[in-house]
Amino acid sequence: QVTSCFACYCDCTLPLLRFSSLLLLLPPLLLLRMSASVPSSSDLPLHGRHILVTGGAGYIGSHTVLHLISSGARVTIVDNLSNSNLEALARVEKLAGGIKLAFYQVDIRDAVAMEKVFQENKFDACIHFAGLKAVGESVAQPMKYYDHNAGGSLVLFQLLTKYDCKRIVFSSSATVYGVVQENPIKETAPLGTLNPYGQTKYVIEGILRDLAVAPVPEKESPWKIVILRYFNPIGAHPSGSIGEDPLGIPNNLLPFVMQVAVGRRPEVNVFGQDYPTSDGTGVRDYIHVEDLALGHVAAIEHGIFGGALCDKSCDSFNLGTGKGASVLEVIAAAEKASGKKIPYKVGPRRTGDIAACYADCSKANNLLHWRAAKSLDEAVADSWRWQSQNPHGYAAPENKL
Ligand code: NAD
Ligand code: WQD
Repeated sequence: QVTSCFACYCDCTLPLLRFSSLLLLLPPLLLLRMSASVPSSSDLPLHGRHILVTGGAGYIGSHTVLHLISSGARVTIVDNLSNSNLEALARVEKLAGGIKLAFYQVDIRDAVAMEKVFQENKFDACIHFAGLKAVGESVAQPMKYYDHNAGGSLVLFQLLTKYDCKRIVFSSSATVYGVVQENPIKETAPLGTLNPYGQTKYVIEGILRDLAVAPVPEKESPWKIVILRYFNPIGAHPSGSIGEDPLGIPNNLLPFVMQVAVGRRPEVNVFGQDYPTSDGTGVRDYIHVEDLALGHVAAIEHGIFGGALCDKSCDSFNLGTGKGASVLEVIAAAEKASGKKIPYKVGPRRTGDIAACYADCSKANNLLHWRAAKSLDEAVADSWRWQSQNPHGYAAPENKL
C-alpha cells in the first residue's frame, strides 16, 4: 500500500537543505554570512544518489533521512509504522525546507509490496533500519523477532540482488559483542548474543558476510556492505521537533529518565548498583543520534561509494563516542538539562545486563572519516528539548500510556 509517493528534488532547494538544521539555531546575521559559502548542489557528497531507507520513519531513521537530504541524496522511505508515526516524517519535511518525502507504508516482509517499490524506483543504495528492537519482547516472542528482523531482511536482500542494488548499510548493534570481555570494544572482539534480538542482528550480519564472499555471477555487480554497530543512541534534533518516541513503557534508560523529568513517570528504577564500575551502576557509550545519523552519511559516502572498504565487499564499524557514562551520570546530566530533581530508586540488576560496554571507534574515525562530536550533556539537553516540547511524543496524549 502506497500512502504517498511524491517528491520534489529540484536543485534549487538543496543548498538550503544542507544547512537547515543549523539555520534553525543561528541568529540572522550569522545566517547571512553563511549563505555566501553555501555550496552548489553538485558539490554535495551524495548529490543525486537515490537511497532506499527502510525504517526511515523511526528514531534513528528520521534523523538520518534529514542528513541524507542535506547531503544531496534523494530518499525513498519504506516503513510499516509499527513503531513510528507519520508526524515524524512531516516534521522532517518541514526541517528540510518544505520538501515532500517519497514514502511507502509497506512491511518489509511483504515481498509483493516490496517488489512494487523496486519496480517503481531505481535505487543506488539502501540503508536498512527496519526491524524490532525491544530486548525483553524478543525474549517473550522470539519468533516475532526472527520473522520481522531476519525474515524481513531476507526479502529485502533478495530484492536488492534482483534489482541490482547490491549496496547496503545495515543497522547492527553493540549487542552482537555479547558478554564483553574487554573495553573499549574493537570490531575484532569475539561476537556472542544475549537474547533473541541480539541473535537476529548476529544472524543478519552473518547473511551479509556470506553474500559478500559468494561468487558473483558474470554481468552482476559485487556487493558493497557496511555493517554499523551502534552503541547507545540518545538525543534528538537540536530543534526539538524530532526525537525518540517509544510506545508504552520505555525499555531504554534515557527515554525513561526523560519521562520522569517531564512528569509522566514517578521515578527511575536503577538496575543494580553493585557492578564493578566507578559508582556501581552500569556503564554505556551514549552517542548523540545526530552523530549517528552523520555516521550513516559517512558510511554511504566513504564506505559504499568511496574507497573505505578497499577491496573488501563487507566491513563492520563501531559507532559510539569511545567514552562510557554510568546510569547515575546520565541522571545527573538530565537533572542539569531539565533543571528538575529526578527521583530514582536502586533495585536489582536487570537480567542479561552487563557491567560496562563502550566502543573503540578508531576504525570509523580512520576509514569513514567520522567521529562523534557531541557530548553526553549536549545529547541529554537535546533529548530534554524534544521531551519538554513534546511531552507525549508525536501522538495525542490520550493515545499514550
Ligand atoms: P525504531 O523502532 O524507532 O525504528 C525502526 C523502524 O522500523 C520503525 O519506524 C518501525 O515502524 C519500522 N519497522 C519495524 N518493523 C518493520 C517491518 N517489518 N517493515 C517495515 N518497517 C518496520 O528504532 P530505532 O531506534 O530507530 O532503530 C533503528 C535500527 O537500529 C533498528 O534496526 C535497531 O535494531 C537498530 N539499533 C537501535 C539501537 C537503539 O538503541 N535505538 C541500538 C542499536 C541498533
Ligand atoms: C542502559 C543502562 C541498564 C533502564 C539496549 C539493548 C541494545 C541496544 C541499546 C538495540 C544499563 C540501565 C536502563 C532503566 C536502568 N539496542 N537502566 N534503568 O541495555 O545498554 O542496550 O539498548 O540494539 O541491544 O540491549 O541500554 O538503555 O536499556 O540501559 O538502570 O530503566 O541503564 O541497566 O546499565 P542497553 P539501556
